[in-house]
Amino acid sequence: MDNRPIGVFDSGLGGLTAVKELMHQLPQESIIYFGDTGRVPYGTRSNETITKYVFQDIRFLLNFDLKLIIIACGTASSVALEKVQKFFDIPIIGVVEPAVEAAVKKSKRKKVGIIGTQGTIQSRSYENKIREKDPEIITYSQACPLFVPLVENGYIDHEVSRIIAKEYLELFRQQGVDTVIMGCTHYPLLRKIIAEVMGPQVELIDPGAETARYVRDFLARRNQLTDDNRIPQYKYFVSDSTESFSRLGSLFLEKEITNSVEKIDIEKY
Ligand code: DGL
Repeated sequence: MDNRPIGVFDSGLGGLTAVKELMHQLPQESIIYFGDTGRVPYGTRSNETITKYVFQDIRFLLNFDLKLIIIACGTASSVALEKVQKFFDIPIIGVVEPAVEAAVKKSKRKKVGIIGTQGTIQSRSYENKIREKDPEIITYSQACPLFVPLVENGYIDHEVSRIIAKEYLELFRQQGVDTVIMGCTHYPLLRKIIAEVMGPQVELIDPGAETARYVRDFLARRNQLTDDNRIPQYKYFVSDSTESFSRLGSLFLEKEITNSVEKIDIEKY
């Protein structure tokens, strides 16, 4: 048993997809979340900058006595996971491996579409992992740089997002993919629209949610789950104003979080 909280971070709101599933799968676990809203997006930046940000985000989270850190960001996981795993002593889990495991299991026709930020698509992280696990799977990749600003600005169920999604996903429709990895943790917030465009027969993989399930098994195996009768504490930190994160985060988590959100200066770390 280990009652210490789990640390989770992302460039903004996207990592809440992992938090939502953690709350569901592991309702007794406490969570410390950091959303780097002052520096979002990560996906258009150089590997060097993303890596610097990821080190700072982890150093901030290490102010708390945590049992595990989840990089709930496709871009940061693709670019910096191995470096930080080597550098820090605490276990660090990214979203790529859990999402790929789910996609490989679910794809029947072995045609998988991957959407992600420019950084993620350029890194080929999902493609390479898929190839390792099942070389017969054919992958198609598409960067969707407009999705993150749409989500961060609350265009969750908006005609503009629908038009852009149709444009981005056309290749997958033409190729008849049966599974789509929403390879950036912001994208499942647009799930309704992506599902509408792809149609009901296509499986959508949510990397944050898959990672939460992976973490449940990881902690259970190591006997590190929190005691069942503990009341969980949730604390959220952001690097820009708390207002829009609190509003959109409360909507997405279906839980009022405004009083638990605090602004910090990430440049100090
Ligand atoms: N949610 C992130 C990801 O999974 C980051 C998006 C961004 O900041 O560009 O890639």
